[in-house]
Amino acid sequence: MAATCVMGIDVGTSGCKVLLLNETGEILCSVMEEYPLYTPQAGWSEQDPEDWWQGVIRAVGRLRGKLEGRTLAGIGLSGQMHGMTALDENFRVVRRAILWNDQRTAAQCAEITAAAGGLQGLLACTNNPMLTGFTGGKILWMKQSEPENYAKTRLILNPKDYIRFRRSGVCCTEVSDASGTGLFDVKNRRWHTGLMETIGLSPALFPPVHESTEITARVSEEAARLLGIQPGVPIAGGGGDAVISTTGLGLAKPGRVGVTLGTSGVAAMGLSGYIDNPRGALQISCGNAPGSYHAMGVTLAAAGSYQWFKDTFGDYEAAAEQAGGKNAFMQLDALAAGTPAGADGLIFLPYLTGERCPVNDPAARGAFLGLTLLHKKGHFARAVLEGVAFSLKQVYDLVRSADPSACADEIVLAGGGAKSPVWRQIFADVFGAPVRTVYGSAEGGSFGAALVAGVSVGFWQTLEAAAGVIRSESETLPNPGTAEIYRVQYDIYTRMYDALKWSFPAR
Ligand code: XUL
Repeated sequence: MAATCVMGIDVGTSGCKVLLLNETGEILCSVMEEYPLYTPQAGWSEQDPEDWWQGVIRAVGRLRGKLEGRTLAGIGLSGQMHGMTALDENFRVVRRAILWNDQRTAAQCAEITAAAGGLQGLLACTNNPMLTGFTGGKILWMKQSEPENYAKTRLILNPKDYIRFRRSGVCCTEVSDASGTGLFDVKNRRWHTGLMETIGLSPALFPPVHESTEITARVSEEAARLLGIQPGVPIAGGGGDAVISTTGLGLAKPGRVGVTLGTSGVAAMGLSGYIDNPRGALQISCGNAPGSYHAMGVTLAAAGSYQWFKDTFGDYEAAAEQAGGKNAFMQLDALAAGTPAGADGLIFLPYLTGERCPVNDPAARGAFLGLTLLHKKGHFARAVLEGVAFSLKQVYDLVRSADPSACADEIVLAGGGAKSPVWRQIFADVFGAPVRTVYGSAEGGSFGAALVAGVSVGFWQTLEAAAGVIRSESETLPNPGTAEIYRVQYDIYTRMYDALKWSFPAR
């Protein structure tokens, strides 16, 4: 019998990642294809869904060779959450998708909250505040600001669900991504049609919802031709990237908080059952295992801050990379590693695209504090890495407080940023705890998506059993010599937002 494998696809913000996993949970290969992000105005963030699909076609093309002699048993989907993808009656995209880090909808979010009877009323419906990143406010924004586009819209999908549609012709979503629309009754795992009607949105705009491990569709003949794979391959529900990454870290069961360093930074954990969202400070969603729940907090610009730093100040490193030298990030990492812990007093607030957690403030801005003539490029690079770690420590503590039994004996770190040894050391030092990476943790959502697909096609009976393949890969111990430096820096960091907020643009 031919060997079998499953495919995990993650429709991320910087690009899409596709990996193949065999029946014993070994990653056979993984590829990434980039696509552009558009910022038509400050605070706006958009992508063209066609770019996602073309990225998937290119990525699958690159690993097709690995499929030879193997049967592709199933596909799992993961993707950036909250991206409003509007389709017309012919399933054509109406406008560019408005992404999770877009901040244009503060007025609409306030309107929805008021219509629901205030924050408590909204939490009673969905167990989440209406964050600017969420889909609900964006649909209302389109209705008010682009009525011609709204009039054409018949269906709203999430990014990974758009890829499901292009692969199969089937339009549907699953509970973890639906939770991030802000229009989903998380407790009862169904759309909150009452809230939709209260704010003037038709429930007909939203697709059917499945559990993450259910088989929802099969690869169509046309998509099979384009992708060079067999038609009829089952496609599992999958999950929003921030939730399915927790599954991929083996943390879907409660007990530990994981930290993922992607474009956004996410501190997240599985919950032992449904909980009320404390003051609406967190994002509570359905988990990937049927009937399970998930808590998280998001720093909007985590690896995204470092990417911005490289794109803005890393011309020299980029040119050296082009000329055959080391990767530009690795060169910046080396500068950061050669700079003392605490960056000689330079502190970075990473609110480059507003912030969601621990403060929900779309108008927040980033800052460098403590600049002197002493500071060189390496100080800035290090301050960016440290500022993101400070931010995620605040978020981590908030998430952990949702389940007093969760322990903080180690930090499981994942995402592309976790590949950087200097960043891992900074996390260990700032958190004062060992940092662990696990098998698949650098792959982000695509690994979790493949595990979910593996469960839906019977490689494993449950997600818990699938998590058995996740083994420890590296451990970074904290350096006690930096503890006092970081205690002082963190104390200053936690006061920066309050001290600076008067200077942020009027809301
Ligand atoms: C989660 C969130 C981000 C995006 C990034 O709520 O907004 O993690 O999903 O991909």
